[in-house]
Amino acid sequence: MRADPADIVVTAGTAQVIGLLARVLHDAGAGTVAFEDPGSLGTRQHLDYWGTAHPPVPVDADGIRVDLLRASGAPAVLLTPAHQFPTGAVLSGPRRRALMDWARDGGLIIEDDYDAEHRYDRPPVPALRSMLADRVFYAGSVSKLLAPALRTGWLLAPPAHRDAVVDAKRCADLGGAVLPQLVLARLMDSGELERQLRFLRRRHRARRDAMIRAIAEHLPAATVHGAAAGLHLTVTLAAGDDEGGAIDRAVAAAALDRGVKAHPLSWHCQRPHPPGLVLGYAAGTPARIADGVAAIGRAVRALGLPTARP
Ligand SMILES: Cc1ncc(COP(=O)(O)O)c(C=O)c1O
Repeated sequence: MRADPADIVVTAGTAQVIGLLARVLHDAGAGTVAFEDPGSLGTRQHLDYWGTAHPPVPVDADGIRVDLLRASGAPAVLLTPAHQFPTGAVLSGPRRRALMDWARDGGLIIEDDYDAEHRYDRPPVPALRSMLADRVFYAGSVSKLLAPALRTGWLLAPPAHRDAVVDAKRCADLGGAVLPQLVLARLMDSGELERQLRFLRRRHRARRDAMIRAIAEHLPAATVHGAAAGLHLTVTLAAGDDEGGAIDRAVAAAALDRGVKAHPLSWHCQRPHPPGLVLGYAAGTPARIADGVAAIGRAVRALGLPTARP
């Protein structure tokens, strides 16, 4: 996606984007932002903090259900179209077109492009922003490419909201630290960032494959979601809803007792959902990943959950 540098507001990651936009959208009369379900617990906590209501809109294999978004009456939506968090779904062509129609009818879109560059088995999908710049706020960061500790991200706003975003950023912190931005510019100009991405793609693909093999061996009843891109897999452990998340929280706790940290899927759900886990693979070697999934398999068996498909 090409952008005029003057339109880019450098932020302290996507996290800051949520705070800035909560204020800007509230002032524009949009105090409610529909949110994908499942969708990131962290993002939802930020919306809560900033007083923005976030009615859930279900996600399926094609991404967010735009018919239900329309029915919700929400004036804005926050979504992860390139690689939905946590299911890994890519927003399909028909859904994109339906979403664009919804936006042309007055809806505002916040596009969180949080790990779109980490893809292995599929071509890149164009940013929604490139299709309808007048209605889409586009946010990204280097957190998944370099390090979250850099706290460096960016926001492109629709022209009608640009001045309000610049004001919000100025009043938040007078602008982000310049030194990390200069370092990032050097990494981009020198081609080093591209090389880093190619290196990471190779390494992550091997780690992802190790995790999929380990899941087939130790969690044969599980269904894997979202393997084509990203830095994590989501697995659902059984059919049927996990009311209140008791099952997957118990599995995550039993896994932690065995030294393995995994998010219960229910953390990221506002509505009932099958029990599941969100398993990151970026930080472990294939051997550690295999050991970790084996420990989760032991936790699942200890809790008496199904270990084979019916
Ligand atoms: C859905 C989602 N969006 C964005 C981010 C990145 O946030 P930041 O850019 O503030 O580090 C994360 C981090 O984990 C995330 O899970």
